[in-house]
Amino acid sequence: MTAQVTLATRSEIAAAAALLRAGGVVAFPTETVYGLGANVSNPSAVKRIFEIKGRPFDHPLIVHIADSSRLQYWAEDVPEQAWLLAERFWPGPLTLILPRSSRVPGNVTGGQDTVGLRVPNHPVALALLEALGPEGALAAPSANRFGHVSPTTAAHVCGELGNSVDMILEGGPCEIGLESTIVGFEADTGEAHTGPKNRKRNGGNSRAVILRPGGLPLAALAEVLNGNIVMAEKLNRPPRVPGALASHYAPATPLELWPGEYLARRSLDLETRGLNVGIITWSEQFHAQLKHWEASDNVMHVPMPPETESYGRLLYATLRRLDNAHLDCLLVEMPPDKPEWMAIMDRLWRASCTTIRKNSRDEAVYG
Ligand code: TXA
Ligand code: MG
Repeated sequence: MTAQVTLATRSEIAAAAALLRAGGVVAFPTETVYGLGANVSNPSAVKRIFEIKGRPFDHPLIVHIADSSRLQYWAEDVPEQAWLLAERFWPGPLTLILPRSSRVPGNVTGGQDTVGLRVPNHPVALALLEALGPEGALAAPSANRFGHVSPTTAAHVCGELGNSVDMILEGGPCEIGLESTIVGFEADTGEAHTGPKNRKRNGGNSRAVILRPGGLPLAALAEVLNGNIVMAEKLNRPPRVPGALASHYAPATPLELWPGEYLARRSLDLETRGLNVGIITWSEQFHAQLKHWEASDNVMHVPMPPETESYGRLLYATLRRLDNAHLDCLLVEMPPDKPEWMAIMDRLWRASCTTIRKNSRDEAVYG
């Protein structure tokens, strides 16, 4: 049976909370992307989330809480930097990775002894969390199949998972459109926070590490932490978040990233082989080359706004729309090499990775 998309009124939120208490799985809006929620303390509901998504059981889920006063209930040894960030940015697009308290079941964290915590900034999500009571929390990944593009509308969730969830709360299109920024903390031993032995009690000299760029820009984090924050890649360690695997956040259609000046040539090359192409640009200069592209029946061109916030908000919906058009290839103009584009660049690069791998195995993928 397909789940109903339900406009989230007060009574619908109460009904969703009752479903969650009874072990149901409910999709709900956040300011970043739609989440697929289960009661953290109900192992079989949490198990269903992994099954619905087709997600490996060792990939941890983010635990969503109603406000920062509940941080200490779910986490231990919270460093000072984490408190600073929580006070400044929650509710908001920030997930903190912290040593988990014994209240967080191991199946939520994929067996890790850390937990990802976030207070979402969406009235429906917050009302739902409040309705679950002071000890309630929602384990919720993005409401999409594992590895696929995250949903930014209730209709996206319905189209992809409508047959397997109990309820979908409608809260409008997501304002940010990219997942939260994930920040972990490492102790001053120089080692990442992987277990109790590395912990500093309440904020010794721990350092913040960005494990996934996202809706909260690096500059905002750096300002609060006086610049004491680094990107995980700079530490030269294997990724600890599955979202950091290559070929994540990917549409089904092969996607290639090109500097703007190569787009026309690549597009023509594919068109002359009889292939249908989708093109996403952001710069005026390449929007202007439209003449040729729009004249062709084989090409769909989507000019995107040049501002990061609007581009980020529209990106996943655009990828889904082009994916549904059954094109042979998507060509995306490389975003500017600027820190504020980091999260967008990260998602596009990962979306392009399946294509790069395929091409390196078989040069004739497109023809
Ligand atoms: O904006 C978001 O973060 C959305 C909304 C629904 O809140 N959620 C989201 O969840 O993107 P998901 O599961 O699609 O991605 C969460 C990422 C995963 O890459 C996961 O590995 C990482 O967070 N993560 C969660 N707990 C972790 C932990 N204890 N240690 C390391 N990484 C963790
Ligand atoms: Mg996800």
